[in-house]
Amino acid sequence: MDTTPATGPGALDDVPAEAWSGVHRGPLRAGEWVRLVDAKGRKHNFELVAGKRFFSNRGHLEHDDLIGREEGFTIASSMGGEYLVFRPLLSEFVVSMPRGAAVVYPKDSAQIVALADIFPGARVVEAGVGSGALTCSLLRAVGPYGHVLSYERREEFADVARRNVHQFFGAPEGASHPNWTLTLGDLAEALPASGERCDRIILDMLAPWECLEAAADALVPGGIVCAYVATTTQLSRFVETVRVHGGFTEPHAWESLVRDWHVEGLAVRPGHKMIGHTAFLVTARRLAPGAKPPRRTRRPAPGAYGVDYTGPRPADVAHEAGNGAETGAGFGAEDAGNAVSGLD
Ligand SMILES: C[S@@+](CC[C@H](N)C(=O)[O-])C[C@H]1O[C@@H](n2cnc3c(N)ncnc32)[C@H](O)[C@@H]1O
Repeated sequence: MDTTPATGPGALDDVPAEAWSGVHRGPLRAGEWVRLVDAKGRKHNFELVAGKRFFSNRGHLEHDDLIGREEGFTIASSMGGEYLVFRPLLSEFVVSMPRGAAVVYPKDSAQIVALADIFPGARVVEAGVGSGALTCSLLRAVGPYGHVLSYERREEFADVARRNVHQFFGAPEGASHPNWTLTLGDLAEALPASGERCDRIILDMLAPWECLEAAADALVPGGIVCAYVATTTQLSRFVETVRVHGGFTEPHAWESLVRDWHVEGLAVRPGHKMIGHTAFLVTARRLAPGAKPPRRTRRPAPGAYGVDYTGPRPADVAHEAGNGAETGAGFGAEDAGNAVSGLD
């Protein structure tokens, strides 16, 4: 049994403000956001303001009846509606916050943080900032000794992102997260102009291949470029552009599918609904200046670069004649092993 007192002696202090975690411990305070969930699972997010009322189809609640209490309680409205009260988690905040552009969903932010290896102290470049959802995960992952440099070419989206990030991290009026720089401009031009060097670059945009040259110049050797793309045509173009560039390891492409489960007595089965598709992810590591990846020894699949293929063509892949059934001219001895990937 947990005997830790929620308040008073032995209670955990609030998370230090310098951690910029976006999380508070202890009693709810005015100015914080709360998330109320009713018996039907409907969610209501609002900022606590002393003296204010929250209205729903089941009457109203006084904010003052929430302020000063430890989160995780149930409260009844004037017409008997019951609401569970918690502070919103980051994963809940990003799917309910105002949006300019489509956001990176939490399942994908988690993949990006883990597999693009975002570490405390890292210097991370991202574009575009969109609504700022991924930015929040990146800022948390780099911590107080890291830095996130976000680029966004549309001012209206930058404004939405700024508001969302500041709301989540609770930046005081007129202040900004100290480990975040948001630059208005196209990454392909603004990043080279800044002279920035970085450990990781995350590209969530329509045409990430247009930013690859700038990313390659800014990344330290061993750094990671990661693209998040919605369609197979974007995926193909980005991967082939990375290969053609030659300054990266063999790109690794994947997607993640997450399925909820219904667990109730003997009724244990996959949930009926799932998000079927969000986007694909690609990572590759930057080689040292002048270094070349090992010569690929595995032949492309038959027809992979056949006559119908019109995308970027790696230097060691010859144009195929005829119907595209002949393949792989220019490759070394065939090897049953995996393609060379710095991230396997
Ligand atoms: C899908 S949204 C990004 C969503 C964001 N990652 C999030 O989680 O909220 C794509 C954004 O990229 C921006 N964009 C596209 N190409 C860009 C470029 N070359 N440089 C900077 N921003 C770019 C768009 O204006 C748009 O806001």
